Amino acid sequence: MVKTGIIGLGRMGRYHLNLNDEMAESDLQMLCDADSSVRDAVAKSYNYQTTGDFNEMLSKVEAVTVAAPTKHHYEIAKKCLESGKHVLVEKPITTNIEQATELFDIAEKKKLVLQIGHVERFNGAVQELDNITDDPYLIESRRVGPYNPNFKNDSIVLDLMIHDIDIILNMVNKNITSIQAHGNCVYSPLPDFATVTIQFEDNCVANILVSRVTQKKDRTMSISQKGAFIYLDYTTQDINIYREAKEGKELGIKELKYKNEYSYEKLFVYKDNPLKMEIKHFLDCVTGKQCRNVTVEHELRSLKVALKVDELLTGANGNKIEVKV
Ligand SMILES: NC(=O)c1ccc[n+]([C@@H]2O[C@H](COP(=O)([O-])OP(=O)(O)OC[C@H]3O[C@@H](n4cnc5c(N)ncnc54)[C@H](O)[C@@H]3O)[C@@H](O)[C@H]2O)c1
Repeated sequence: MVKTGIIGLGRMGRYHLNLNDEMAESDLQMLCDADSSVRDAVAKSYNYQTTGDFNEMLSKVEAVTVAAPTKHHYEIAKKCLESGKHVLVEKPITTNIEQATELFDIAEKKKLVLQIGHVERFNGAVQELDNITDDPYLIESRRVGPYNPNFKNDSIVLDLMIHDIDIILNMVNKNITSIQAHGNCVYSPLPDFATVTIQFEDNCVANILVSRVTQKKDRTMSISQKGAFIYLDYTTQDINIYREAKEGKELGIKELKYKNEYSYEKLFVYKDNPLKMEIKHFLDCVTGKQCRNVTVEHELRSLKVALKVDELLTGANGNKIEVKV
């Protein structure tokens, strides 16, 4: 059991709290939120000590979850790491690569676990991708949903698209030759929807659409590779595979010949709460039961590509760039 604390008890922090509260791996010691009304609300449902200053929990815990707004991640995570605490920080870790690199350097020097809360990596369907993808040439990803007026701070790329970028980079593992991005504002001063095309070496293209102004929620990814089309639904954690049929023609009723165009498989996927799996993985890494499931280089590359896309969408350089990443 690891002595834990949670910093930031908003929307995401409450999910972390609920799960840490019930998980055998976590021995929750203290909760922190800068807002006293949030602390009061939490204290009504949970019997943990609370504080408005995360420094007060540092002597009581071995590991922290940072779920404060992104702009505070660097300062909080740095102090926690320097105090010898393992850190699970919500995504995005920071909004610049230098700060993220510095945090991973501190963690390495101090032999601490530093992980980013890329919860979608722990989606049961995503976990299966490694076993079924084979050199895809076309990836189409949709992460869209209705507008929420409570939406705050982060750009659509750092808020939503970073999940898809992270999963695609993990799957493709080739150099990027170009990124093209287009998006527009609808209700907020930053783009509310964006479509991005990433061209990889060896003729692989990924098309990512994200929107927070689309009335019907849809979170899916489809992957085309030789002989197979894979369709993944993040929400239901389902994967369907359409494979090229082996047989050309078969005999049907009344001896008419018909062509078998594809065979269909619905994959069996182990489904659990992805956030619970993420926290368990973090705590198992802290206790040495597991090794981190992605490299630090991969963590930094996902952020680097997301920041590049963000720059394209919000900058004035014509929404297109040629890059080697
Ligand atoms: N992994 C995901 O899918 C996912 C989903 C949503 C949000 N997030 C990330 O989680 C983080 C928090 O997002 P949210 O939607 O929960 O935000 P939120 O605004 O709902 O909650 C943030 C909380 O942090 C508190 N806070 C602010 N400054 C603090 C400080 N210095 N110390 C302690 N508490 C402080 C605020 O009072 C608030 O209660 C963001 O980085 C966001 O990108 C991740």
